[in-house]
Amino acid sequence: MNSRGIYVAIDIGTSKVCAIAAEPDHDDVLKVVGLSSSPSTGLRRGTIVDIQATADAIRTALDAIELSAGIKADYVTVGIAGEHIFSLNATGVIGIADPSNRSGDGELKISEEDVERVIESAKAVGLPIGRRIIHVIPQQFTVDDETGLRNPVGMTGRRLEAQVHLVTSATASTKNIITAVKQAGCQVRDFILEPIASAQSVLTEEEKKIGVGLIDIGAGTTDAIVMSKFGVEHTVSLPFGGNQVTSDIAGILRITEEQADGLKLKFGHCFTEDTKVDKVFDVKGAGGRQDRNMNESELSMYIEARMDEILRMVKANLADNGMLKHLNSGLVFTGGGSKIPGIVSLAKRVFDLPVRLGSPIGFIDTTEMIDSPEYATVTGLIAYAAKFQSEDKLGYDTGALRRMATKVTEFFKKNF
Ligand SMILES: Nc1ncnc2c1ncn2[C@@H]1O[C@H](COP(=O)(O)OP(=O)(O)OP(=O)(O)O)[C@@H](O)[C@H]1O
Ligand SMILES: [Mg+2]
Repeated sequence: MNSRGIYVAIDIGTSKVCAIAAEPDHDDVLKVVGLSSSPSTGLRRGTIVDIQATADAIRTALDAIELSAGIKADYVTVGIAGEHIFSLNATGVIGIADPSNRSGDGELKISEEDVERVIESAKAVGLPIGRRIIHVIPQQFTVDDETGLRNPVGMTGRRLEAQVHLVTSATASTKNIITAVKQAGCQVRDFILEPIASAQSVLTEEEKKIGVGLIDIGAGTTDAIVMSKFGVEHTVSLPFGGNQVTSDIAGILRITEEQADGLKLKFGHCFTEDTKVDKVFDVKGAGGRQDRNMNESELSMYIEARMDEILRMVKANLADNGMLKHLNSGLVFTGGGSKIPGIVSLAKRVFDLPVRLGSPIGFIDTTEMIDSPEYATVTGLIAYAAKFQSEDKLGYDTGALRRMATKVTEFFKKNF
């Protein structure tokens, strides 16, 4: 929390850096008091490749929200995604043997410390050098033979097992984010995986309970999260997104990326069946080439081919990880790339599941901007920052890593 009780979060995306400021209103609903995007040029597929360019974009976005919220941002919650993210489910087991935990009848009672200990043991997976755990999200516990427990504290038993979802990132990529934020004049308070943030702002409680997949199609990455009644089952950040669609259009029509993006935004569609051949528009020739005519269906064919491929790669990833069985309430699409008309029909065809588009919900919005899928991540980050209030304003240095893992565990125990 910054001066005046206002939280600040930053989504460092491949196409835009987005900053948000919000303060708790009545009933702890968040009131968004500043939101700003600035073009991002320092990332490739969700990962920073130019620290200074990223720092400049962060500063530009922060300048705007500092002005509108009347604050000076100091500690910020930041999103993390990209190909360097690797997530896995792990299991830890401990024996309940501490005599101080004996209940009156001689049985062994499980304490908070036992839960921390079993989660620690689940974290003991062999990670390659240069990789660290950023989230430890408990899914369920087993006490002796009783499975599917959300909170085993106070139960009696001799063997405690924890299943957790671990999110790991490349240390170098994490450090680059910390450096870029520092160069922009702030400190990283917490990292949160971007699809976890998007889930926080876009999914309903009911969807999460029944089982749902959230797919965030960005410019450079397509992130997915699968949630069941036990919490986070799966997260993944795949290295492709709306930028590929733009590159395809540029390559096929031999026009610039800017022109291609303009065509996509103005006339793009990704479900050719629903387009019209008599909706005709001009395509300006680049590099001395002649102008030409094009119709909506032809443009849509190029876009559909790539979007279909992206969705199939997501589906293959979910299938390979045994996730399709959890999608009882279907899929929710968000992120700027999901704004392409036809996405719901295309996704229904690929996945054969109910599909809806998701925008941030549950905020008071003084900016009148957030009702759009590209703000799913940044609003989720601020929701996370506010729910996960910590009085110690620690900067995200190496010493803070362990403490953060514990705090994040607490957060997920409460919220998922
Ligand atoms: N109306 C639209 N129709 C089609 N595509 C759109 C539309 N609006 C935005 N996009 C595309 O969405 C992408 C940007 O989405 P978003 O802002 O969610 O990405 P990002 O967060 O910057 O990137 P990432 O999360 O991949 O790092 C771009 O490829 C852009 O062309
Ligand atoms: Mg994004």
